[in-house]
Amino acid sequence: MRGWAARCRLRKVVLSVIPDCRDASASLQFDSHGMHHLYLIGNMGSGKTTVGKRIADSLCLPFYDMDALLEQASGQTIPEIFARHGEARFRELESVLLQEIAPRPAGVVATGGGVVLSESNRVLMRQSGWMVYLKASPDTLWQRLQRAQNRPLLHTPNPRETLEAIVRAREPLYQEADWVVEVDALSPAQAAQAVQCAYRPTPDAPLKVSVLPDQPQGYLIYIAPALRTRAASLILQQRRFTRVALLTHPPLLHWAEPIRAQFDESDTPVQILRLRSGERMKSLRSAARLYEQLLQAGLDRSGLLIVLGGGVLGDLGGFVAATYMRGIPYVQIPTTLLAEVDSSVGGKVAVDLPQGKNLVGAFHQPALVLIDPELLQTLPARHWRNGFSEMLKYGIALHRGLWRRLQTMLQQGALTARRVRKDPAEWTLPIAQCVRLKAQIVSEDERDLSGKRALLNFGHTVGHALEAALGYRGWLHGEAVAVGMIAEAELGRILGITPDIVAQELRETVAQAGLPTQLPSGINAETLLNAMRHDKKRAGDSLSVVLPTDIGNARLEPNIPLSAMQEALKRCGAS
Ligand SMILES: NC(=O)c1ccc[n+]([C@@H]2O[C@H](COP(=O)([O-])OP(=O)(O)OC[C@H]3O[C@@H](n4cnc5c(N)ncnc54)[C@H](O)[C@@H]3O)[C@@H](O)[C@H]2O)c1
Repeated sequence: MRGWAARCRLRKVVLSVIPDCRDASASLQFDSHGMHHLYLIGNMGSGKTTVGKRIADSLCLPFYDMDALLEQASGQTIPEIFARHGEARFRELESVLLQEIAPRPAGVVATGGGVVLSESNRVLMRQSGWMVYLKASPDTLWQRLQRAQNRPLLHTPNPRETLEAIVRAREPLYQEADWVVEVDALSPAQAAQAVQCAYRPTPDAPLKVSVLPDQPQGYLIYIAPALRTRAASLILQQRRFTRVALLTHPPLLHWAEPIRAQFDESDTPVQILRLRSGERMKSLRSAARLYEQLLQAGLDRSGLLIVLGGGVLGDLGGFVAATYMRGIPYVQIPTTLLAEVDSSVGGKVAVDLPQGKNLVGAFHQPALVLIDPELLQTLPARHWRNGFSEMLKYGIALHRGLWRRLQTMLQQGALTARRVRKDPAEWTLPIAQCVRLKAQIVSEDERDLSGKRALLNFGHTVGHALEAALGYRGWLHGEAVAVGMIAEAELGRILGITPDIVAQELRETVAQAGLPTQLPSGINAETLLNAMRHDKKRAGDSLSVVLPTDIGNARLEPNIPLSAMQEALKRCGAS
């Protein structure tokens, strides 16, 4: 097949897939979930076709099987295309086919194993859908493939070794996916169910992320649009509570009331506690008032505190739960983007002192976290950007694929006020990815002892210092972290650890998100250095800072010379 003739035939076979599922209910689903394909990526033998077909049937979506479509269009089998035209030509045809599929109605796409090898293919898949990686171990793949005749890449003297080499080489590219499902222990039906939960999570089949699995303080995070409608049943699945207190802000009562009402059926009394908004509420004084209200409500250790709010309420409510009667269980239902991607997970709870932020606190893990992106519908645009800043932190420090996803969202205008209000559910998977990254790190280093959890503090050494220097007024946490990330990447450049191109890309992306890239005028480098000296995360006199080494990678660098930090701050506008 050559040139335009190939394109025409591919277009024809792609179009032939579509009518199967174009009934009314399918169109409705397209409308309510945007036009996102589900791209299944993974090695040959990982089950993309089998799993993809099941999901397409279950959701009544078109199913695009790339290898089958190529065979149909060319009238040749894949081994024949390889033998007659070579792998390079096959890859070209694969890219042309992908370009044909991308603008078509949303469907499930079983890609060829090598589709991720081309950067432009990865970009196109990200622009037009979600990528889910079906991850199978080399052992599982070999079991499934050892007798297969239709895998031209394995026609070598030692196919097992070849397979392992392919798996190794492609793994970093597959890991750029929006979600990973490990399929070794799953039947096709279970794998399809797991993928469907990532692609279209619902309150009855939400995404689940486990924190500290197999530990007594371990817990689950559930993520799905409209999850709030099942809040009580998910909470009561844990165990019965004699009394429940629900802490929230007055403007969030329209979310709190229906949740309270869900408990009526179980005869569990729920008292709503209201608190004003603002960082100033994260104080010992507020905690003391809440202890009193909990006593008045008759809550004892068989009770539960639910916190419905942003990071301030989550930190304060968690602190109260950690200390009231030596600790009671609590559930986080975060309502800001920052709280959904960060503060509701990990069990760091605290209040501020006049001398600094989070200076009195504890590690107290929640019993459950319920994340419903629809709760963000009313969030002001500035607070979306605030949370987005923490998402950028996860991307640049920990996950290249997430970083690219966030850049794609920005290019597609996802942060514009109109879009976020209309479609907060579009954010589910990127939010879940951040949560998964945090859960993984917390599970490895719950108490911030090994240096692993410190990676989550990229941008925070400078960010916290700036917040302190401003007296916690004027700038939001994520805004301070945004300029903190830029300053710390500059520091990395000065020390020869962060490549110029990484620092540059970070600066451009932060600016594109409408976040600050410069320190506010009048801020003095010495003031910031002083604040860093008081930061509770500092060990002794030396300064340790997380520095990016590449997109998606960072390391904690000890013994940072103060002069280098001073220079980095000056480059970001400090006097
Ligand atoms: N514990 C952790 O691991 C951790 C991590 C990051 C940040 N934090 C803490 O989080 C705090 C910041 O949290 P935040 O940014 O969520 O601020 P926030 O809790 O103050 O909420 C921001 C504002 O949004 C309002 N709001 C909340 N949900 C809303 C909704 N759905 N619709 C409309 N308005 C809504 C609030 O009333 C408030 O005015 C800081 O104190 C920071 O230290 C903690």
